[in-house]
Amino acid sequence: MSEAGERMGSVRWAFRCGSWTPGRADWLFAARCVQPEEKDRIAKFVFARDAKSAMAGRLLLRSFVCEKMHIPWAHIRLERSPRGKPYLAAPLQASPDLGTQTWSFNISHQGDYAVLAAEKGMQVGVDIMKTSMPGSSTVTEFFRIMTRQFTPYEWRVIQSAGSEQQQLAMFYRHWALKESFIKAIGTGLGFNLQRLEFHLSSEALTQSRVLCQTRMHLDEEDEEDWLFEESLLDADHHVAVALGHSANPTSSLPPPTAFTLLTFNDLVAAASPLTEEDPAYWESFKMKAEAPLRQRDAQSRSL
Ligand SMILES: CC(C)(COP(=O)(O)OP(=O)(O)OC[C@H]1O[C@@H](n2cnc3c(N)ncnc32)[C@H](O)[C@@H]1OP(=O)(O)O)[C@@H](O)C(=O)NCCC(=O)NCCS
Repeated sequence: MSEAGERMGSVRWAFRCGSWTPGRADWLFAARCVQPEEKDRIAKFVFARDAKSAMAGRLLLRSFVCEKMHIPWAHIRLERSPRGKPYLAAPLQASPDLGTQTWSFNISHQGDYAVLAAEKGMQVGVDIMKTSMPGSSTVTEFFRIMTRQFTPYEWRVIQSAGSEQQQLAMFYRHWALKESFIKAIGTGLGFNLQRLEFHLSSEALTQSRVLCQTRMHLDEEDEEDWLFEESLLDADHHVAVALGHSANPTSSLPPPTAFTLLTFNDLVAAASPLTEEDPAYWESFKMKAEAPLRQRDAQSRSL
């Protein structure tokens, strides 16, 4: 797996699950390499697209723990907080070469990608959002429904972005930022999003670089303990990584890290099966439609 673009205590991985078409052997192997309760959860998705992205998320998490935390695949036990955030429940003992700082990690899967962000000694949340046309309403109606998710200042920035497509891109950029923070603190639904206000970097977000100048205000105060890395995986996919760094003085923060695109072989390179092969798992997967018909139609239309 490439180390290019990665600093020592930072991992940013992406997997393009939207174009992943696993055959029988790969799907059954993947299913054997995740915890049985996750395998069962993934089986319940109606659409293949959702099953693949959830499977990719689990493989990203386990590969990370195995490769970067040096814990053998079969010893890894991931659990979820009461609000759903995965954490490493076992083994609890840190190995001596982990140093004093512990890793924090989080995943997101939406659109065509599953992503993982991990950082040593910092709190991490990640969110990926694909810019797409609202399914059944106009952009104006969609924004009206979403009014309460953003502050009046944020709406002014979103609605002055230019064309409808540019406004949607700006909307999803803000969305990814808000979600990345919510995911870093792990609260999920229930956080009043009006308490957060993002002030974007004046530099343009392009595919070739990672921006980290965007600031977050919490209850109208600039939050100095939080840093946001923003990148575009491609023209349509915004990713935001929230990093809480209260223990680190800003001056010593390392430069931002770009996402590395992994292959399926990378995802399972360190994997070892946890359960027996289950041929029925493939039979059920291959019967699933890729996505709801309406969304497949929308995919074939350009924005
Ligand atoms: C769970 C939640 C935090 C993120 O969900 P999401 O954005 O739909 O999905 P993502 O793909 O980004 O992330 C899903 C992954 O996050 C992780 N996750 C689940 N709950 C989490 C939590 N409370 N905190 C952090 N990560 C969580 C899981 O690994 C999950 O994947 P998995 O279930 O396949 O393992 C979301 O449901 C939520 O509560 N969001 C905030 C509400 C909101 O209105 N946001 C609008 C922003 S403008």
